[in-house]
Order: sequence, then structure tokens, then C-alpha cells
Amino acid sequence: MLDLLEGNYHLPCTVVVGGFFGDEGKGKIVSYLALKDRPHIAARGGVGTNAGHTVIYQNKLFKMRMLPSAFVNKKTRLLIGPGVLINPSILLEEVKMTASEDRVGLDFQCAIIDNQHILRDRVNEHLSKTVQTTGSGCGPCMEDRVKRVVKIARDTPELAKYLTDVPLEVNTAIDEGKLVLVEGTQGTFLSLYHGTYPYVTCKDVTAPSICADVGIGPTKIDDVIVVFKAYTTRVGGGFLAGELPEDEANRRGWSEMATVTQRRRRAAPFNFDLAKRAVMLNGATQAAITKLDVIYPECRGITSVDKLPKSGLEFVKKIEESIRIPVTLIGTGPTVADIIDLRNPSR
Ligand code: IMP
Ligand code: MG
Repeated sequence: MLDLLEGNYHLPCTVVVGGFFGDEGKGKIVSYLALKDRPHIAARGGVGTNAGHTVIYQNKLFKMRMLPSAFVNKKTRLLIGPGVLINPSILLEEVKMTASEDRVGLDFQCAIIDNQHILRDRVNEHLSKTVQTTGSGCGPCMEDRVKRVVKIARDTPELAKYLTDVPLEVNTAIDEGKLVLVEGTQGTFLSLYHGTYPYVTCKDVTAPSICADVGIGPTKIDDVIVVFKAYTTRVGGGFLAGELPEDEANRRGWSEMATVTQRRRRAAPFNFDLAKRAVMLNGATQAAITKLDVIYPECRGITSVDKLPKSGLEFVKKIEESIRIPVTLIGTGPTVADIIDLRNPSR
């Protein structure tokens, strides 16, 4: 779109969020978008180190808990918004692992997770036994943030060289017509407000909150991509409709291990009702379906919709008819390149 007033091109600001219980494959979708669309900035919102995003790129497996999954594009600036909880040692390790020291920025106001938060997460019976949290300290850190006693990034010397005003950087980029990608974490039904309370995480994780986490107002957002896996999984406590017995999930190849905690994820078929509600809660404009190949092995590695076997195509069409927004990205395998991209080619 040509911006007649400014005389420059308006590029879309896109937010990517999870549509089920986390682990939908956002890391894979975001890393693909980063390589394909070459965003100027990728800004991470969401909770904190409870998130684990898996990215497989150039034969390497990355398990990201702090940095945006867009790190695969070496030209993209990687920002973490003030709403996100930072564990400095995990962050610094990821910076080193991805050699991204010169392009990482954290907001001054990110809250800091310390060992005492992790301990409280693990010894508290309600959190560890009932909710079955990830034990990463996120809940207790949020608790201290709400009490207004938590330490923030501004007061942490080891992070000093990375500190920046994330909302200002992100909004300046948008106003200059540069491409900004916003990454959410977890999934809609783990939201503190909209999820299956009390089996939820410690913040809202729907698109409006992800935008607030990085300081972007709702009028600046062009697209919300909600990511669904071709089946649902859930780790930790809480009801999962249609949950399969463990041996049946294993037989279908739907059993997965959690990235952060190595716990087994419980599995169930794709949930059309939850998907419709996730589209509503996130104001989603497009959907991505990942792991189509796990349900339909004949779809593995396909990158063009014309070559997609009928089985997979019909499943995607059925989802589209139900959620009433276009499925624009289809994951057909684990690596960044295993994807069908049906987005508007004029962009
Ligand atoms: P917490 O976010 O560590 O407090 O955990 C609260 C609930 O959310 C537990 O059921 C966790 O298993 C779940 N959870 C938190 N983050 C993720 C995630 O990134 N993927 C999947 N489940 C998560
Ligand atoms: Mg995950």
C-alpha cells in the first residue's frame, strides 16, 4: 500500500500468537516469516522463560526461551518488550549461542526473574502440583511485579549494554514504513483471563496483550496470525477435550516432549470449537496450521499447494470453513523451509 501522505510504503505490522495451549509451532512460523519477509524488527511479547520455541534451521536445532525466534535472519533487530520477564543468565546464553550481541535490545522496564522466584514456583504445592507450572519462576516474578517490588532491567548492571526503549524503537520503525514482526508466546487457552483457569499461565497471552507487552497500540496492527497445530497438545494440569490415551497418542506420533520441562505433552485431535474462539479472542486475520505432515505423512516436505495431497487439502479446507479466516501458512515438516505460503503475493 502506498502511503500518500508520507510518500513511503506502508508495510504490515503482524502479530503471531498461539491458538491452543502453546507449542503450536510458533517458533517455526516466525523463523520462516523472518527469513521470507526480512522484518526490520522482531519484538517479543508474552510471559518469559516458561516459553520454549523450537527452531530448526540449517541443520541446527535451537530451543529459544528469551530471544525472538526471528534471530535466524541476521539483519533483523531483536527486541524484548517491557511486558516480558527476563532471566538474565538464560538470555545471555542465547545471545552468545546465536551470536546476536550487536542486535539485541531489552526494554528498561522488563522485570527480572531471580532464583528466589524459581524456588517459590517449585516449592509451592498449588503451583507445582495442581497447576503444574514450568517451574521457571514466571508466576512468582509476576506476583512481585504486581506488588511493585520486583527488580527491573534498568537496575541490572549485567544487562546495561542491551537496554533500550522498545516501544519507541518499534513505533518509530512502524511510522517509517519498516516491517515489524511481533512474537507472542504460549497459547490462547493458557491465558490468565481467557484460558482454563486456574490451569493457566500468569498473564494474558492473546494478541491485545502481546501488543501491549511491546508497546504497540491496536490501531498500528495490520495482521494477527493465529497458529494452530494439526492436533492439540497440552502440558501441565487442566482439561484437554478428546484427550487420547498415552499409547494411542504414541501410536499416532502425537506424543511430544515439552521444550522447557521435558514433560510429556498430552494430545487430542484438532479442536474446532477452541479454534473458532481463539480466532475471536485474538481478532485473527489469518491462520497458520503446523505439523500437517504428522497427521498426513504424504504431505511431508510439500511447499506448493498445488502439490498438496487431497487428504491434507481437505483437512485445511475444513478448518478454514469452520474458523472463517484464511489459512495462509501450512507447515509440512520440522524445518523452517517445510512450509506452504499462501499469503497475498503482492506483499
Ligand atoms: P507457568 O506459565 O510456568 O506458570 O505454567 C502454568 C501452566 O502453563 C502450566 O500448565 C504450564 O505447563 C503451561 N505453560 C506455560 N508456558 C508454556 C508453554 O510455553 N508451552 C506449553 N505450556 C506452557
Ligand atoms: Mg513451546
